[in-house]
Amino acid sequence: MLELANKRVLLGVSGSIAAYKSAELVRLLCKQGAQVRVVMTATATEFIQPLTFQALSGNVVYSAWDDADRGDGMGHIELARWADVIVIAPASADFLARLRQGMAGDLLTTLCLASDGTIAVAPAMNRLMWENAATKENLAVLKQRGIHILGPGTGGQACGEVGLGRMLEPEQLARDIPTLFSTGILSGTKLLLTAGPTREPIDAMRFLSNRSSGKMGYALAQAAIEAGADVTLISGPVALPSPSRAKRLNVNSADEMYDAVMSEVAANDVFISAAAVADYRPANPSKEKVKRKDDNVDLALTQNRDIVASVAALPNKPFTVGFAAETSDVEVHARGKLERKGLDLIAANQVGEGQGAEVDDNAMTMYWADGSQHLEKTTKNKLARQMVAIIGEHYRAES
Ligand code: PMT
Repeated sequence: MLELANKRVLLGVSGSIAAYKSAELVRLLCKQGAQVRVVMTATATEFIQPLTFQALSGNVVYSAWDDADRGDGMGHIELARWADVIVIAPASADFLARLRQGMAGDLLTTLCLASDGTIAVAPAMNRLMWENAATKENLAVLKQRGIHILGPGTGGQACGEVGLGRMLEPEQLARDIPTLFSTGILSGTKLLLTAGPTREPIDAMRFLSNRSSGKMGYALAQAAIEAGADVTLISGPVALPSPSRAKRLNVNSADEMYDAVMSEVAANDVFISAAAVADYRPANPSKEKVKRKDDNVDLALTQNRDIVASVAALPNKPFTVGFAAETSDVEVHARGKLERKGLDLIAANQVGEGQGAEVDDNAMTMYWADGSQHLEKTTKNKLARQMVAIIGEHYRAES
């Protein structure tokens, strides 16, 4: 199972003899489906060559301050934004002290400071350094700030001593890193979700569709799984790998999506309608490929059933979350849909001109009857986690 499919792991390597083990960690993370980028401190490059990490991750390795710079001096911010999780393995005593101080003297400490995401450290040092009061205090402060501490392990050390302070083995870290994404807010919940576009056939060859890539819906499915939900994903035609541990049902048209949703919905506690469902379909699709004529052609359209409104109208409806894709007056239209379709929550996004559909980043405002919360533009993976936290909170409050 690809536990880290679509996940972006930024692996920080600081100066420790354990740095050589991180090469194996990169291999194991990639094997689990993660995209891995490696940032090394200058001292780390004295223990192991960047080329080793470059070959294993398939990505350029960053070390010097301007390695990540694309000419605008913002490379460190870009890298911090790119990462779904930052893992420093090995984290030396010196690195932990600098992280605790909030220092920004090199690329790795700077991007930790510029990150609002999950950070984990895997300490590696001599047992006396580990037991030193200064290290203990640094760790306590980092933990209090929400930084995850993975290990250390115990055993023989490079200096010949035996005790606590060894970096956890790569296999152990590769098992621990996927758990960093677990929130548990939807544990015990069955969640049904639609994603992607629909295709409405015109003839044997042609269809009407839209720009949805499925990225937003698939990120939500993954975030819901990490929050502990048992997820069924009903997907329009997209070119994305299935989220790990989701039951995926593929459909093409809005009619097929409607039927799939209606046959699954009764077993679910939460329904999220992230799919860009066609409002209309050609009234008379042809089984044959329509021949070109010398004149213009009129295409008669008929209305599709509204899936999310039908779910919200069920007698035992699940907690129902709709979307609003708007090009203008986002709040007015979103609130109109929230009310008209009988939804519990609606996620509204601005679409058009490179926004919302197809792209990797998005911003969203969640509306409910007497409130709203705006979520700033970020990667769809991070956005999905914030959305799932809000959905989980509201669902728990109502159930
Ligand atoms: O897939 P990506 O490329 O990542 O792009 C993401 C997205 C822009 C598609 C996504 O964020 C989004 O906005 N999805 C909903 C698109 C949409 O159909 O919005 P709408 O405002 O037209 O529809 C309102 C709601 O009714 C939606 O929840 C929709 O799923 C639902 N609907 C619409 C028509 C219909 N026949 N049945 C429905 O259930």
